Amino acid sequence: MTVYGSFPGSRPRRLRTTPAMRRMVAETRLNPADLILPAFVREGVREPVPIGAMPGVVQHSMDTLRKAAVEAREAGVSGIMLFGVPEDAKKDATGTAGTDPGGILQVAIRAVREEVGDELVVMSDLCLDEYTDHGHCGVLDADGRVDNDATLERYAEMAQVQADAGVHVVGPSGMMDGQIGVVRDALDTIGKEDVSILAYTAKYSSAFYGPFREAVGSSLTGDRKTYQQDPANLRESLRELALDLEEGADMVMVKPAGPYLDVLARVAESVDVPVAAYQISGEYAMVEAAAEKGWIERDKAILETLTGIRRAGAQMILTYWATEVAQKLGGARR
Ligand code: PBG
Repeated sequence: MTVYGSFPGSRPRRLRTTPAMRRMVAETRLNPADLILPAFVREGVREPVPIGAMPGVVQHSMDTLRKAAVEAREAGVSGIMLFGVPEDAKKDATGTAGTDPGGILQVAIRAVREEVGDELVVMSDLCLDEYTDHGHCGVLDADGRVDNDATLERYAEMAQVQADAGVHVVGPSGMMDGQIGVVRDALDTIGKEDVSILAYTAKYSSAFYGPFREAVGSSLTGDRKTYQQDPANLRESLRELALDLEEGADMVMVKPAGPYLDVLARVAESVDVPVAAYQISGEYAMVEAAAEKGWIERDKAILETLTGIRRAGAQMILTYWATEVAQKLGGARR
């Protein structure tokens, strides 16, 4: 056998030799504090209702929502993002239940704040689709199109009732032009200067929202292509980003996460505010479904998706696995 002197001169494998070595040189670490739990709460149920397309995720009753919030906090999760699921009979054309102080989301915000105080950051989805009978994120004009400016007025009211209920952060997710500025003004007008805005800055019209429709019992027919972004576009996200920052966003978000890591990386390198990514329902469902079939190793796949999202530049990740992963990280030597 020929011996080739010192070839190869450089051996990257030296730093991969043991688990301790790999841990030491890891460039990206996941911490429970990076994680935010999205949670659904359904009006009028005493028991949680399983979501078929999201095994392991439920529409909470008020009681189990409180428990989930406490469990998340105990695991070290940073925040909880709340979604309300009203009774079907309460849905209408303008999403009245979304601005009713007694509406499901407002009741949930109060309940969770009562449970966790300031120890968990309480956030709320600020969007009309959960409350409209047509399932769109805004109100419709006479031709059935989503009316941007009429919707902004509804968002302003939503921001105010959510803030009155005690939310720390509102998350406008409807992709209406001008929504961040209007929400900031609406909050400041009622003395809620301290309520922050997590802007859904780059929100794409994605097929991966599928399971979410079941999660919130949405009645949407058609699509959201006239207001959510086209998956083909990256530069457009930078434009949305500039607008959101100018209008007063405190934090920005890219959504979905996995298929948009390039967008996330560009956004993260362009801003000086915290950057979040939302690993959405379809991303969750894909891993769970493949794991159920025995096609992938569930826990490793979950950590890999989250590590990839962190590596691409997200400081915070909204993920349905938040509590489970935080519990595992807490105990693990990572
Ligand atoms: C809008 C909203 C959606 C999601 C979060 N906020 C649905 C949509 O825009 O179509 C999706 C979350 C997920 O799929 O996990 N209220």
